[in-house]
Amino acid sequence: MLELANSTFRTIGRGDSVPNDVVVPFYLDDRKLRVSVVRVDGRLHAFDDLCRCGGVACPLSSGLLVATTLMCQCHGSRFDVVTGAVIDGPATSPLTIYEAREANGDIQIRPFVAGATEPIHPERLGEQP
Ligand code: FES
Repeated sequence: MLELANSTFRTIGRGDSVPNDVVVPFYLDDRKLRVSVVRVDGRLHAFDDLCRCGGVACPLSSGLLVATTLMCQCHGSRFDVVTGAVIDGPATSPLTIYEAREANGDIQIRPFVAGATEPIHPERLGEQP
């Protein structure tokens, strides 16, 4: 936990590419990972873009966002993008979420454990120690 709290942020894109109340996906090529970012009431929230239930991966960036609740277009699961918690299934696993901030006009994220289904390791985001 301590090493996660001390992990460094990684820049994934420009802040002006994330308007209010829009889900914007970013692809971390070196990690083969899609992370979506939303800005709600001026606060950024980041989470893995792919929803999985029944073995199917569906992009949450195509879902419907209402305040901080995001509904997956595939089967209708609803998630809290702040905590990653499942509000309604069929999904049973929470979203993997990241701590997000804007610095010098860039969107930056780092691992965050709340709502995670498994430990998140900084190397997953390609961070340098
Ligand atoms: S893949 Fe998102 S609800 Fe099934």
